[in-house]
Parts: sequence; structure tokens; C-alpha cells
Amino acid sequence: MELPEELKFIVNGRMPQKKTTARIDGRVCVITGTTSGVGLAAARRIAKGGADLILVCRNQNKASIVKDELEKDYHVNVNVVIADFADLKQVRRASSIILENYPRIDFLINNIGIHNTSRKLSVDEFEAVFQVNHLASFLFTRLLLNRVLESSPSRILYVNSEGHRFGGLDLNDLNWLRRRYSGFQSYGASKIAQLLTIWELSEQLAESGMTINAMHPGGVRTNIGMNNGLLYRFYQRYFLYLFLSNTEISAEAIYYLIASPELDKVSGKFFNQTIEEKPAIYALDREIVKKVWKISDQLTGLTS
Ligand SMILES: NC(=O)c1ccc[n+]([C@@H]2O[C@H](COP(=O)([O-])OP(=O)(O)OC[C@H]3O[C@@H](n4cnc5c(N)ncnc54)[C@H](OP(=O)(O)O)[C@@H]3O)[C@@H](O)[C@H]2O)c1
Repeated sequence: MELPEELKFIVNGRMPQKKTTARIDGRVCVITGTTSGVGLAAARRIAKGGADLILVCRNQNKASIVKDELEKDYHVNVNVVIADFADLKQVRRASSIILENYPRIDFLINNIGIHNTSRKLSVDEFEAVFQVNHLASFLFTRLLLNRVLESSPSRILYVNSEGHRFGGLDLNDLNWLRRRYSGFQSYGASKIAQLLTIWELSEQLAESGMTINAMHPGGVRTNIGMNNGLLYRFYQRYFLYLFLSNTEISAEAIYYLIASPELDKVSGKFFNQTIEEKPAIYALDREIVKKVWKISDQLTGLTS
């Protein structure tokens, strides 16, 4: 029996995934959050494919270790730019450094992501998950956009999540002041906002030669959520981990989505690893696309 489109996400993750052996020698990839998990594995795979990397991370020591490893193992150029995405000033500074120093960006991968079980505020006083996962990546992408466009054919890829299906986006309560905080739903809200702005950007730039897509990297063993309380960390490490995969599956999927010639002209899509999939209905709501775009513009200071 064939599942309806809406439910295919249940099985897609277990389907055989696509891979590519295409090489991307000498091309330049900006990737955020490479000090652990999905981002680290993806950076290794991209370096193996031959691209130079700009790693955008918040921790200089951890990032330097990754840089040294990639340069030693894959003989590509790797640079580090430091930014804490909980602070939009730092996102702006990182974008300026990149624009000043790197004349092309062939690939931009927005990977940084967090999951909080209790409500916290960012430096800019937004709910932290919404800022780190959505607002900061939105700002970062917009500030680098012209450079990515000038480098076209180029690709932007968001590491999104099946977690967008948790819902939770309420444009009248982005800071969770009127609702009881839910870690799953705040995560869902941030990932839905990402998706809605991706559709908008894809439409705006349809003829540009640049593509923009989103993907779920699989359920994989990483550090996400390990900033939460002891109980949650215990549950994750000693229970959840039993059901999760190695981050190599995420890395192969990300590499396929940025390097495969099969996706040269594919834009505005959501992939479960490498399988194109229909997102949840509320992530397809064209009515709120423009609203999310405008609010994100305002909150990040792109328009006052
Ligand atoms: N793991 C999964 O099963 C899964 C499933 C679906 C989607 N995802 C998505 O995959 C992406 C990567 O997450 P992960 O699972 O690999 O988690 P992870 O191991 O915790 O990696 C997250 C990365 O983001 C960085 N980061 C976190 N907060 C930051 C901030 N405020 N400023 C700058 N960098 C920050 C971390 O840096 P530090 O090392 O300094 O903390 C780390 O490099 C996220 O977008 C997540 O939503 C993961």
C-alpha cells in the first residue's frame, strides 16, 4: 500500500539514498557550525570532494582543530570565521569579514542549529532557538546573497529538519510570552520559518542560476540538545542514541545536494536526506511566507 504524500517522511529516511562522486575541486564553500555533528561530518566530506572551506563557528579552539585536520587530511584551503549566532552583531561582522576576504562563494550551507528544553533569550533578546536557527541564518544568507549570486551557478543549502512537523510558529508570539514553552515546538517554529523564507528566496531568484534548498540530515548522533539539563542529556545519550545513525549519512546527503549535477536546476525543495519530500502543510502556507519574510527582515535590522 502506498502512503499518502504527507506521510512519506515516515519511510523516506529508510529508503536507499543517492550519492555522487562528482568533484568540486577549487570551489569555495561557506559552512556554519562545523565543530561537531552534522556540520563537522559535512565539512570533511566537502573537503574530500576538493572544495576550499570557510568554517563559521563560535569556538575558536574547536574550529582551529577542525581546520588543521581538514588541511592535513584533504590538502584544501580552510579558514575560520568566528561568530556566535545568538548575537546578530557577530553575524554581521562575520559576513563582512567573508565579503572582504573571499571573492566567491559557490556553496553556502546553513547548518548551525540548537534545541532548548526551556525558554532562553539570545543576546538580542529573541527566543534563542528562533534566533540561532532562523533569524541569524536569515541575516547571514541575506548579507552574503549578492556574493553567492555573483558566483552562480551556486547553491545555498539549509540543514533543516523533519522537526518542522512539530509546528509551533505563531507570528504573534515569537518570544513565547503567551504560551507555555515547548522545546519541540520552538524548534519546529524555527525550522518552519526557515522553510518559508527559503521558498520566498527561491521564487525571487528563480532565473539567477543560484539554487536554494532545504534538507533533513537523518536522525543522527550529535551534540544537539546536550546543552540542556542532566535528565535530557541522560535520555539522549543512553536511550535516543540507540535509534540514531552515524553522521556520515548526513555528510553524504549534504554532499550529494551541493555537488550532484542532477540538482543543477532544482530549487525551492525539501529533501529527506536525498529524497525530495513534501513538507508539513503549515510550512507550505503561501499566505504567511510574505509575513515571515517581512518580520525576519525587521527583526534582523535589514529594514527598520
Ligand atoms: N542530529 C540530528 O538528528 C538532527 C536531525 C535533524 C536536523 N538536525 C539539524 O542539524 C544541524 C546541526 O545540528 P547537529 O545535530 O549536528 O548538532 P551539534 O552537534 O550540536 O552541532 C551544532 C553546531 O552548531 C554550532 N552552534 C550551536 N549554537 C551556536 C551559536 N549560537 N553560534 C554559533 N554556532 C553555534 C555548534 O557549535 P559548538 O560546538 O560551539 O556548540 C556546532 O558546531 C542543526 O540545524 C539541526 O537542527 C539534526
